[in-house]
Amino acid sequence: MASAGVPDNCPVIPQVASFSPKGDATVCLSPGSNYYLEISGSKEGADVFRAYLAGCELKLAPAARKSSAKLRFQIGGKSISGVSGAYRIEAGKKGIVASAADFTGAFYALQTLIQLAAANPENAIPYCVIEDAPRYAYRGLLFDMVRHFHSKDFILKQLDMMALLKMNVLHLHLTDNEGWRIALDCAPEMTKKAAFGDSLYFHTILSPTPLKFQDEPRGYKSGTLYEEGGVYGGYYSKEDLKEIISYAAARHIEVIPEIEIPGHNKALLYVHPEFFCDGAHRVDNVFCPGNEAAFDFFYKVLDEVMELFPSKFMHIGGDEAAKYNWNLCSRCKERMAAEGLKDVFELQSYCIRRMDKFIVSRGKKLIGWDEILEGGLSENATVMSWRGTQGGLKAIQMNHDVIMTPNTFHYLDYCQDAPWKEPVAFNSCLTLERVYSYEPEAEIPDNRSRLLGVQGNLWSECIMTDSHFEYMLYPRTFAIAETAWSPRGSKDYPQFRSRAIALCGQLGRKGYTCFDLSTEVGERPQAKVEIPRITQNAHAVIYIGNDVQGKEAPSLVDGYLGGWSLRGKTAWMDIRRYAVTVDIDLGEIKDVHYVGAEFVDYKLRRFFAPQDTEFYLSEDGVNYELADIPQLRLYPDRKYFAILTVGGTVQARARYVRLRYNTGSPKYRTFISEVIVN
Ligand code: ACM
Ligand code: ZN
Repeated sequence: MASAGVPDNCPVIPQVASFSPKGDATVCLSPGSNYYLEISGSKEGADVFRAYLAGCELKLAPAARKSSAKLRFQIGGKSISGVSGAYRIEAGKKGIVASAADFTGAFYALQTLIQLAAANPENAIPYCVIEDAPRYAYRGLLFDMVRHFHSKDFILKQLDMMALLKMNVLHLHLTDNEGWRIALDCAPEMTKKAAFGDSLYFHTILSPTPLKFQDEPRGYKSGTLYEEGGVYGGYYSKEDLKEIISYAAARHIEVIPEIEIPGHNKALLYVHPEFFCDGAHRVDNVFCPGNEAAFDFFYKVLDEVMELFPSKFMHIGGDEAAKYNWNLCSRCKERMAAEGLKDVFELQSYCIRRMDKFIVSRGKKLIGWDEILEGGLSENATVMSWRGTQGGLKAIQMNHDVIMTPNTFHYLDYCQDAPWKEPVAFNSCLTLERVYSYEPEAEIPDNRSRLLGVQGNLWSECIMTDSHFEYMLYPRTFAIAETAWSPRGSKDYPQFRSRAIALCGQLGRKGYTCFDLSTEVGERPQAKVEIPRITQNAHAVIYIGNDVQGKEAPSLVDGYLGGWSLRGKTAWMDIRRYAVTVDIDLGEIKDVHYVGAEFVDYKLRRFFAPQDTEFYLSEDGVNYELADIPQLRLYPDRKYFAILTVGGTVQARARYVRLRYNTGSPKYRTFISEVIVN
């Protein structure tokens, strides 16, 4: 039943667990309204909460007496129990009563009221009862502040939004190949020498010239973005980080730092070349786990970082370490022999175990990306599952805590709509609907208590400006917040989408940039319907490289073209080798008027459409004739992401169609969705 402009569902994100409207009347919670705090038990947190109430957008003022308050908070009473953050709101004739077992619950009740007031004319809160509690204890976002630096003030601004969405973890990615963004007393050289570069990192991913580090420019002010005279970058001082941590804490958000070990370390190796491996195939972004001095360096770094961040977690990365040289490096070989490690995976695991032991000795817990499962999972580790969900599922079976942040649903650096209309993105494509569709427990039959929660990751390779960063965050972060908070089974995408449009409107008025859902194109229309073709009963076999056996390739004749996303269950075939032949048997001789094939061209990822496609036709499967159709011609200024059809008309009778192409280089990949015959 709708009342006072409020739809049946409560117009807030994340959706509340239960909402019962009580008639048509409303109570107005306007800026300057007064409140009263009734606290039973510990008063710790009361001052911070009062300061927040005064500073929040409703600018609430303390009431002299309980009876005169528009909004009463009852904190620590017996009325609400259970998980931290749970709350109850009752709005009626006597005003609004928000009860919670702790200040976290009271804070979330306030966030619900702020959204409700903003959603209704004249800040009218409908008479209602709301009961609400978080589904997961961990509701996170990762900000990559390395690939492109964003200022301290920018982070503070996003913390306000995270609070509004009841998210409670900010994971800060602070070190990587492209820079070292945390100033430490134990390693001041790192930010002096490797926090600035000669260009935006984005320019260097598309060009053969690598990024060159520059020394810290004179007069640089920490926590701000520096962009002058061809020098670009920045870092946070410990004071900046303390400010971020305390601003976050006032919003019930924990900040988890990440220091990458052992890979993603070009910046470290630039400053400390003594940590390089030797060996014939020395890689430039992984330190030598045979070198004790490198461990000593990281022990000092982690010690200082853990002291600075109150979080019980310390994230040590662990992802994408190129290990192949470790078999060739003299120190690594010595280490493997001395420790009885049978391969390089066990050497990586050895490295993580040492960090784990060190972190535990300081009373904290290690988190690592799912690669830390390789070579044996360290005893106390919490796993962050990013390569889909498999790593997380495996770790749960092994009785480890897990945070799900699958790139198949939660990578906010992937583009969010038809790639031809979007800014360049690291991958394509995760729409709002796709992000919202994630159900973390769908694949977890038991041991669910090991799933601490979920997180969205925003890597910033392609994201140079603050407004672009926000554009990638909102509204998709709304979907992640709802997955993390609202009860399982409460999702309804069309209804969520309308709440998201309304909340984007509110964000816009507060000075945030959001993706405009009203212009959303959505999934590629051509991928939704079966195309006309004469390959209904055809049989397709693909030969890749030197393979003479061939492999069945039914998806190339199934009548469905690929969508914007190249990941997951899509129609794209991902081919990583040089020469490709596809043989199609139509089953009988037919009139053929058209042959073509569809490819992706995605320069940023080095997925190229082939330039030398050839089609052959045959009646008997022995004698093939080359079809005279145009070759694909690509131009350097083409859009960064394109789906290209190579093909043309023919006049022939044929039972067999053969497509041949080369990728242009063994390094490149091709994505093909369909061989179209008509
Ligand atoms: C990752 O995206 N490499 C964690
Ligand atoms: Zn080594």
